[in-house]
Amino acid sequence: MKFFLDTANLAEIQEAAALGILDGVTTNPSLMAKEGIRGTDAVMAHYRAICELVAGGDVSAEVNATDFAGMVREGEALAELHEQIVVKVPMTKDGVRAIKYFSDKEIRTNCTLIFTAGQALLAAKAGASYVSPFVGRLDDIGGDGLGLVGQIVEIFANYGFPTEVLAASIRHVPHLVECAEIGADVVTCPLSVLNDLFQHPLTDKGLATFLADAQKVGS
Ligand code: E4P
Repeated sequence: MKFFLDTANLAEIQEAAALGILDGVTTNPSLMAKEGIRGTDAVMAHYRAICELVAGGDVSAEVNATDFAGMVREGEALAELHEQIVVKVPMTKDGVRAIKYFSDKEIRTNCTLIFTAGQALLAAKAGASYVSPFVGRLDDIGGDGLGLVGQIVEIFANYGFPTEVLAASIRHVPHLVECAEIGADVVTCPLSVLNDLFQHPLTDKGLATFLADAQKVGS
């Protein structure tokens, strides 16, 4: 399973990349706004900086346009910016058209805002490289986010779709681990969730004991 970080914060990306286990980054307009980035030049420079921090990793950069022509224009500019860029496109009719257009041009895409298996099927049919079911946001409204990931994994396996299932809107460790059990290809999460993966009180206790005993041995 690939680990992506869901952030536009360069320090967080650097911290995760230093662990040597980071496969990519997902961003969205809200995450970019949170970093105070304003204007096309600044946005492009920021995406380039992210690509350089995750050498070789995929970086999802979202189009802001909602019409087909606008998505194509923005997506082509993003794809030209860096080979690691994956154009993030929302799940709409124009979005699906744009995904098909990009797929024909061998431009990789991530179809975002997936809340049903039917939406994931449409994106896969159009040739999306990734689909992003939003687990946490679906849970928030009483839905079954992990159930959705499972449905999509099963459907893609039934037909051999090459589209990868990128579980998004991950809120905590059990979300991430269950996505791994289900067979999601990728999980994207905030740095806090990645850091929480390291934690267990018995690890801390065991290490403290080993350190104390090592002192006795004096090695
Ligand atoms: C996915 O690509 C999105 O950026 C993200 O996972 C949304 O997560 P949120 O529901 O925590 O905003």
